[in-house]
Formats: sequence, structure tokens, C-alpha cells
Amino acid sequence: MAKARATYVCQQCGGVHPKWSGQCDHCGAWNSLTEEVQEKTPGPRNKGREIPMEGLKGSSKPLPRISTGIPEFDRVLGGGLVPGSATLIGGDPGIGKSTLLLQAACRMAGTGAGVAYFSGEESTDQIRMRAERLGLLNNTESVGLAAATDAANIAASLSADPGLRMVIIDSIQTMYLPGVESGPGTVSQVRASTHELIRSTKKLGCALLIVGHVTKEGAIAGPKVLEHMVDTVLQFEGDRSHHFRILRGIKNRFGPTDEIGVFEMTGNGLSEVANPSELFLADWREDVSGAVVFAGIEGTRPLLVEIQALVAPSSMAHPRRNVVGWDSGRLSMLAAVLEARAGLPLSGRDIFLNVAGGVKITEPAADLAVAAALISSVTGRPCPANTVIFGEVGLAAEVRRVAHPEQRLKEAAKLGFEQAILPPAKKAGKNRDSLRHNTVTTLTDLIETLGG
Ligand code: TYD
Ligand code: MG
Repeated sequence: MAKARATYVCQQCGGVHPKWSGQCDHCGAWNSLTEEVQEKTPGPRNKGREIPMEGLKGSSKPLPRISTGIPEFDRVLGGGLVPGSATLIGGDPGIGKSTLLLQAACRMAGTGAGVAYFSGEESTDQIRMRAERLGLLNNTESVGLAAATDAANIAASLSADPGLRMVIIDSIQTMYLPGVESGPGTVSQVRASTHELIRSTKKLGCALLIVGHVTKEGAIAGPKVLEHMVDTVLQFEGDRSHHFRILRGIKNRFGPTDEIGVFEMTGNGLSEVANPSELFLADWREDVSGAVVFAGIEGTRPLLVEIQALVAPSSMAHPRRNVVGWDSGRLSMLAAVLEARAGLPLSGRDIFLNVAGGVKITEPAADLAVAAALISSVTGRPCPANTVIFGEVGLAAEVRRVAHPEQRLKEAAKLGFEQAILPPAKKAGKNRDSLRHNTVTTLTDLIETLGG
């Protein structure tokens, strides 16, 4: 006999509590517990059987990949979708997840692959109208649309179609599985529906793409648990006030996670940006102080971005440190090193730092570029023209080498830059690019180079 038992589940972390309380014991979130009824079925205990083991050295075939028809999307996935895999795409509402998946669905259908698009948020008319407006209707006979929210029905409709290659669920927060007694969007429902959908798509060998909304805190809503269940987690991010959208790999069982795909939201849907550096530098002006160009690497691809700093006298007891697109802890460290080791007067001043275009930089290689932007803003002298900067800065104000200098320099040369400020190379060799190399070993060197 099945026995129903009420438990209280935290909607933030999935922690289970026997009694209700105001705060979750596991993650400390307030007001996040909701009552969920769990079926407890004491099944017959079987004795178990021996599992055959394999050696690590055996031969395995390379993973087959299905192209989504969008090269930037394929790049982030590590070369395309893997049949039978589950991919979660997270992002703020209105960022363009449905648009991206609709475009991928139509491109894939153009190659004859079957695609099923289940939407719990929009009606089939709305989706059809969007596809028509974006001019996607050629060759899309193999796309099946349905407005559905019942995961069991969806699983049952899938098994009927043998030509199916991709299944899209938009969004997992609207799905429910009958028999699980809690509302759509709760941890138990999301977990149970995802489980059901993954099971059925794995059996059919088609790729599952799940849309998940992101909460105000930036986590994929409620179901942190979801991230463990799927093979790949992608984040679609961008500033709503900018046109750029970045698709970023967060977890990938079949490829690297540091790859990004860059898109631009246009009147005709998302278009791919093949050369993001050009786009991010579009508004760069070299004659203003506090603006520098950082030669970065995102995944395997070089990316030049503009970093702007403004240092201004503060009227507050605790001067402001405002950062967009970079780590604020890193900025505090760099400001302290600049002040203590190189004598740059920064205390008692507000610092604003901005990475143009809404890009987020995580590399320590940006340290030297940020330092140069700060120095340039304090001295009021623009950085040397046509110059890119990169390098890591240590606590002793020493400038350290970073990975892939050649790739960064090559991209800068391609875009017409003439000079680079960078850490000294490991061994003195011939310049293999057309840039003038200006090596700096400390922040004091950097201040001199910038003419301060
Ligand atoms: P959508 O894909 O519905 O976002 P999500 O599924 O992530 O919630 O995208 C909606 C936004 O994109 C909407 O605010 C308008 C904008 N948009 C365009 O600018 N151009 C277009 O061609 C389309 C389809 C949407
Ligand atoms: Mg949507």
C-alpha cells in the first residue's frame, strides 16, 4: 500500500524538512518551504545481482553530434547536440530563449530532422506568428508544435514519432506530472517532470532542450536540483538595454564549459555575431581618458573589449566602488595595490568601472587593462592610440604572464591595432605579429609607459 506523507521542501535548494519553519535549515533562505506530498512505496526487497565491470582503456566511439543549424549555438554545446542528451537553457524572462530555440528548430527542420516544440507559455498561434514574422516558414514541415503542460502526455506523444531528433520544452516551470501533488514550478514538480521527459527522450535517442527561467538572484528558478539532472547547462545572458546576447556554457558533460556564443537581437530575431571584437569596440573612442582596450580570451576565442574607468572625488565617508562586468573584489585589490605600491592617489575617491557592451569578464588577465584605465582616468591623459593591454597583476604590483598571448596579439593585429602593453614573454623570441611590444614588469613601469 502506498503511504502519503507530507514534507516541507525548500524551493531554493530542495532541502527536505519534516516540519514547517520560517527558514530553511540547509541554505538559510526565508519563507521558502512549501508543503509537498511524497508517495512512499515500500517495494519488495530484491537480492540484487552482480554488475559486470569494464576497463577504463576500452574503445568507445566518438560522440555523434546533431547540428542545431546555428554555428554559435553548436560552438557552445561543444560541436552540436548529442543524441539522447538533456540541455537546460537558463536566462531572464524576455532575453530571447524562445526565439533562439524557435530559430534552431526551423534550421534543423530545414535539414529534414524532426523537431517537437512544446510550449506551456505561448499558444501555437503566437509561436506560428513569430515564426512567420521572422521569415522562418520555408522547409519547416517537420516541426511539430503543441501547447502542452502535462509531462506524461508529452512523453506519450514522443514515442509515436520515429524521425524525431530534438524536443523543446518551453519552459520547465510550466510543466507538471499528474500524480505529484504540488503545483507547477515547485521543486518536486520540476524534478518529476524533468525526470519523465529525460527518460523518454533518452529512450528515443533525441536531444532534449529545456528552457528554465532565472530568479532575481540569478539562479535558474527554484530548481538548482535541475542542474544536476541534465547533461548541459547553458546561460543566455545580456543586458536588456543592449542588443548583444551571450550564450555561455556553465556545465557540459560533452565538451568544454568556457565557450561563449555571441548573438545580436535584431528586428528579425537573433543573428549570429561572427566577429564579436568588432561589435564590442564599435563605440570606442581613443581620445578620452580612462578608456582602454583589453585583449581577452573567452573559451578558445580571442575577444577585444573596451574597459572604462572614472575616478572622481568623493563626498562620502566610504567612497563608492561601482563595477559593471568585472569582479568588485578584484577591483578593490587592484586599487589597494595601485595606491600602496605605485603611489596612485585613489583613497577618498569614487571609482566607477564599466566593461562596455554588457560583457562580463572573469579572466585575471584584465588586471593590467583595468589598472591602465584607472591610471589614465587619474592623470586625465588618454592611453596611447591603437593599443591593446593584457596581463595579471600580483599583490607586489608585479605584472604576470597570462595564457595565450599569441592569440590575443593576432586578434589585435587583425583589427588594426599597432601596439600592445603586456607582460614580458617567457623567452625572448621574434615578434610573430606586426604589433610593437611594450613590456612592463611592474605597475610603476605601467605608469611610466602611460606617461604619468
Ligand atoms: P523571447 O524569445 O520571447 O524571450 P524569452 O523566451 O527568453 O522570455 O524574446 C522576447 C524579446 O525579444 C522581446 O522582448 C522582444 C525581443 N525580440 C526582438 O527584439 N526581435 C525579434 O525578432 C523577436 C522575436 C523578439
Ligand atoms: Mg519564452
